[in-house]
Amino acid sequence: MKKINLLFLPAMISLIIASRPAGAQEEVNVVPRPVKVQVEKGKFALTPATVINVIGDADVAPACRLFSDLLARSIGTPPEIKTGKKAQRKAINVSVNPSLGEEAYTLDVRERSVEIAGGSARGVFYAFQTLRQLLPTGVEKGEAFASLDIRCVKIEDEPLFAYRGMMLDVARHFFSVADVKTYIDMLALHKMNRFHWHLTDDQGWRIKIEKFPLLTEVGSTRPETVIGKNTGRYDSIPHGGFYTREDIKEVVQYAAERYVTVIPEIELPGHASAALASYPSLGCTGGPYKVATWWGVFDEVFCAGKEETFAFLEAVLDEVIDLFPSEYVHIGGDECPKTRWKKCRACQARIKAEKLADEHELQSYFVKRIERFLNSRGKKLIGFDEILEGGISRTATVMSWRGTAGGIEAARLGNPVVMSPNSHAYFDYYQSRDTKAEPFAIGGFVPLEKVYSLNPTEGLNEQEARMVQGVQANLWTEYISTISHVQYMVLPRMAALSEVGWTPGEQRSYDDFRKRAIVLTDRYAALGYNFARHIFD
Ligand code: ACM
Ligand code: ZN
Repeated sequence: MKKINLLFLPAMISLIIASRPAGAQEEVNVVPRPVKVQVEKGKFALTPATVINVIGDADVAPACRLFSDLLARSIGTPPEIKTGKKAQRKAINVSVNPSLGEEAYTLDVRERSVEIAGGSARGVFYAFQTLRQLLPTGVEKGEAFASLDIRCVKIEDEPLFAYRGMMLDVARHFFSVADVKTYIDMLALHKMNRFHWHLTDDQGWRIKIEKFPLLTEVGSTRPETVIGKNTGRYDSIPHGGFYTREDIKEVVQYAAERYVTVIPEIELPGHASAALASYPSLGCTGGPYKVATWWGVFDEVFCAGKEETFAFLEAVLDEVIDLFPSEYVHIGGDECPKTRWKKCRACQARIKAEKLADEHELQSYFVKRIERFLNSRGKKLIGFDEILEGGISRTATVMSWRGTAGGIEAARLGNPVVMSPNSHAYFDYYQSRDTKAEPFAIGGFVPLEKVYSLNPTEGLNEQEARMVQGVQANLWTEYISTISHVQYMVLPRMAALSEVGWTPGEQRSYDDFRKRAIVLTDRYAALGYNFARHIFD
């Protein structure tokens, strides 16, 4: 017998291990790909008699309820959620194991029972989302089953990043509460956990503020919208809409039940036309201003010199904070031209009084002042990478959108970062080269594989990489006005981003993902979601 050179043994073993997960995974089509999957022999039969048995006193019933509701439609009676002292046969036994990470879980499908342990209710919820993807897609549309067979499998799983977000711009086009809930459902299916709600912009102010009623009475409606890309032709159709406090509470609650945190965005100091049209004294010139009817970056921004501006924004933010439990408040901060500030007596006086070098430092003053206010209310500021310009505080979180450069700079400074580069995560961009096969879009080219190739910590050393909280995709809606179109832009690209945010890079393979994504699209279809089917042709 030939001797094995022991020196090479570790390398050989690691080769075998490295090549194994892809094979084992093929049988379990879950997106995002779980960290560890082992397929076992046999099946668990889920029937109307199956109960969800919560062991111990952890508050995980909400995490179980959606799964129970899902099954109610397909196996007749919803599995009863009971509490018990120990695991039972023919049950889905659920427990919390605090030694696991908060979002981590184990899922063990055996012939006699299903065992779920989560680090918290969040982990339990993700275990159920994985279990959901092991069920036939018919359950999503309430197809009747006498019994559902689930293959036996042992899964250990946890996300790579804590922040896995999706933005929806409801300012350029308004989306109803029902649409927003659908969007949140889409996030939950992909184990995404942050919904960034872009509520204000030049073309519309979408959140009712009790203290400033004109924001919605005036700022939520534009008389018409430009056709195409600023062609100069307009559609003569008024466009508007806003969310009441009750609407917001409903959305926040709905999201919470899906372990999604809603991050509100009140855009400042730029993209403020709708606010200025409502309260012209907040601008440098005093107006008059109009809710914008075309797309772009506008010179009319909040005056940084007037105290009135800060009193207004703080009062607005106070009402916002009251509605959103999220620790983060997004303040935009992007694309703020300095044209008006350069000519404004109040802004120039502020620059002098605060000994600022220029208008960039004035923007920095603006953002830092808002951050201090948010901090005083127990909240954290997050903004687009322009908040680096003119100097950033030590604590603000940077959302890097102009590629990853801003994120890299911020991480090196020791600031928290969310990577949302337009190169990989702008889902308003085209997703195939054949733009004629796609609905009209803003431009760009971010195909599925490009999204999948994002490495959020590329170019960073270990310490800097720890500043990266996660990833987000942004959906700007200049050219998107229906939820069906939203779905087309986001699906399946969100599946790729969810895996970037969840699965360790060394376990990711685009070919393997692509196969699982195709399987996932059957679920989209069963759910009635529109998606970019043709990219798989
Ligand atoms: C942005 O896309 N202006 C953040
Ligand atoms: Zn000014």
